[in-house]
Amino acid sequence: MPAINDAVFNGAEALTFDDLLVVPGWSEVLPHAVDTTTTLGNLTLRVPLMSAAMDTVTEAPLAVAIAREGGIGVLHRNLSVEAQAEQVERVKKAQSGMISSPVRLGPEATLADAEAIMNRHKISGVPICDADDRLLGILTNRDIRFCGADEFERGVTEFMTKAPLVTAPVGTTLDEAVAVLHKHRIEKLPLVDADNRLAGLITVKDITKRIEKPDATLDGDGRLVVGAAVGVTDTAERAEALAAAGVDMLVIDTAHGHTRGVIDAIRLIKKGWPNVMVVGGNVVTTEGVDALVEAGSDMVKVGVGAGSICTTRIVAGAGMPQMSAIYECAQAARRHRGTDRPLPIIADGGVVSSGDIVKAFAAGADAVMLGNLLAGVDEAPGELELVDGAMWKTYRGMGSAGAMRGRATDRYGTGQAPGKHVAEGVEARVRYAGALSELIGQLIGGLRSGMGYAGAGDLSDLRERTRLVRITGAGLRESHPHDVAVTRD
Ligand code: XMP
Repeated sequence: MPAINDAVFNGAEALTFDDLLVVPGWSEVLPHAVDTTTTLGNLTLRVPLMSAAMDTVTEAPLAVAIAREGGIGVLHRNLSVEAQAEQVERVKKAQSGMISSPVRLGPEATLADAEAIMNRHKISGVPICDADDRLLGILTNRDIRFCGADEFERGVTEFMTKAPLVTAPVGTTLDEAVAVLHKHRIEKLPLVDADNRLAGLITVKDITKRIEKPDATLDGDGRLVVGAAVGVTDTAERAEALAAAGVDMLVIDTAHGHTRGVIDAIRLIKKGWPNVMVVGGNVVTTEGVDALVEAGSDMVKVGVGAGSICTTRIVAGAGMPQMSAIYECAQAARRHRGTDRPLPIIADGGVVSSGDIVKAFAAGADAVMLGNLLAGVDEAPGELELVDGAMWKTYRGMGSAGAMRGRATDRYGTGQAPGKHVAEGVEARVRYAGALSELIGQLIGGLRSGMGYAGAGDLSDLRERTRLVRITGAGLRESHPHDVAVTRD
């Protein structure tokens, strides 16, 4: 029986991104023609990227932006349950196919009521219905644009466009709706049942958004998808509120997922909210994957101490270089795979370039989670800072002193004495990176290019047939620009 650390001292080493390169292979694919689609449970992502659940990365604006590009954002939990659920609602309301239960008012409402409800829900019109939900008319911004202050106490029925309105029956497709909206030059199309009861609403704004971003990740109702983080001490409370707000994916957000707390949290969610996908993590070993999968996790997030702001490996002396972690966990997940349980692997942490994304897929990942790379975009929280002539944005670890201050987070330093925080992350800044859509274009361009070198037409090809080669320090030096003074990055 070998002793537990024999392999270490017999030469097996763990590797990370900079230790490896993709070996260019026979290729018949051109970068623009490859398919970067991935499947995460019941979601199909055209862009296989996720944003990290960190308070300097993912709040509603970034979650909306990344879902519109074809990825998915995971909302952080460094805020109250109510505030996090409200963020989920903001993402779910940012875009719709058909609005299945439109906000409506009764005929007794005043213009002031209508204005208040339109402002609160950030909508430009509201159907007016009787007590049986029969459509009486519709009031839009246009109808009240020039109303004087004294008119706001008057009833909505005086100002609305009255029935009969242009409507369409329940079951109308978006293409059919476009034709009706165009024919009548209107902006809102109420859907009604056989008794003229309001059953939905299709708007020009939502249709335009779909045309602008055809790759967006949408749920069955045409709304953007979103994930949200939960912990192991607040699981039920957060899951309840987030599921009610329409969250698509709950991510158990811990630094060490091969633990009793995470197993119990997965079981709790699967039992209480079976329609929401659960991501367990983070783990870096076969045994970790086995435990999460057996508990019912729909996918597994991989990475301990790889993050650019992490100090876990320094503070706790624990972790696993990320490429070895991805490879081992992907192999383990594969052993559990059945057609009904594809068990995707999410590579989380340590990715600082599009080349690292290519390598993560080659090692077996199904999606890649990004913190550092996204923290500098316009849509990330926080203001721009000008330092030494360059623009920066704040980026900090969720286990940093700043992120933990004033709020008990159980992600890092779990099990320390009450009130005692042992930081496992730093507070930092990253270069301003402009609009998220531009950055995603660059990253996916790099991924496509890598797939071209590997000869992989899609991500499953990239995972199955890419050969990786181990490089030396000299090889790494050769990989970066060398023996020149770079004048333009
Ligand atoms: P990148 O490399 O993209 O990594 O910046 C983001 C991931 O890092 C993890 N994370 C932390 N890890 N201490 C840690 O050891 C921390 O304070 C911390 N905050 C975030 C997390 O998995 C994230 O997705």
